[in-house]
Amino acid sequence: MKTAGGSEAAKRRAGERAAEEVEDGFVVGLGTGSTTAHAIRALGRDVEAGLEIRGIPTSFQSRQLALEVGIPLTTLDAVDGVDLAIDGADQVVDDPDAGDDGALIKGGGAAHAREKLVDAAADRFVVVADPSKLAGRLERPVPVEVVPDAHTVVADRIRAFGGEPTLREAVEKDGPVVTDNGNIVLDCAFGAIEDPDGLAGSLSQIPGVLEHGLFVGLADVTYVGSEDGVERRVY
Ligand code: 5RP
Repeated sequence: MKTAGGSEAAKRRAGERAAEEVEDGFVVGLGTGSTTAHAIRALGRDVEAGLEIRGIPTSFQSRQLALEVGIPLTTLDAVDGVDLAIDGADQVVDDPDAGDDGALIKGGGAAHAREKLVDAAADRFVVVADPSKLAGRLERPVPVEVVPDAHTVVADRIRAFGGEPTLREAVEKDGPVVTDNGNIVLDCAFGAIEDPDGLAGSLSQIPGVLEHGLFVGLADVTYVGSEDGVERRVY
């Protein structure tokens, strides 16, 4: 599920600041969503001006946009490594005193499985956000991508450890949202999440779960765009 908040100007500032980290020759992970789209457009302009990079898209959406703006593309299995990944988030822990500062909930666009693959493979993972995404503690429902046949058994397992799963329904299609991988998504409410790392481990162990949207200990920096500038959080 997407957050409603966040101005386009704030998202643009964050995205464009992140794109400035990209250097000539880089392999770049291209995240998904409206904030990352600003970074992809900025990189497209840089490519037009002579920057040589290769992008690895994390979704149909980011692939389409990268093609549109002229970023040469590659795949994870065709490169030696990913220098930097830029990606958005639905919620970011913003508390330097918390052990989980910089932990994320992702998957509002149902792209978190490929996003985690690429973001985790990167030498440096740069998050782009606006202030509406910041929170003292993760508390949004956690998107869980599930093999379709497994959705009832996965939902039972999630209820057993205190979650409330809801099948994500499509808006302009009957039935559920179907991910780029052909799976479906359970948005799982846990209330305020005290131990994101522990919950991440528990979700990963459920047979039928392809990937969940808790990204713990992965982000290196978050650029938070606002109406008048960009703040940087380093982890
Ligand atoms: C997609 C994601 C997105 O990065 C997340 O939903 C943020 O998107 P936006 O920048 O549009 O708010 O995780 O699965």
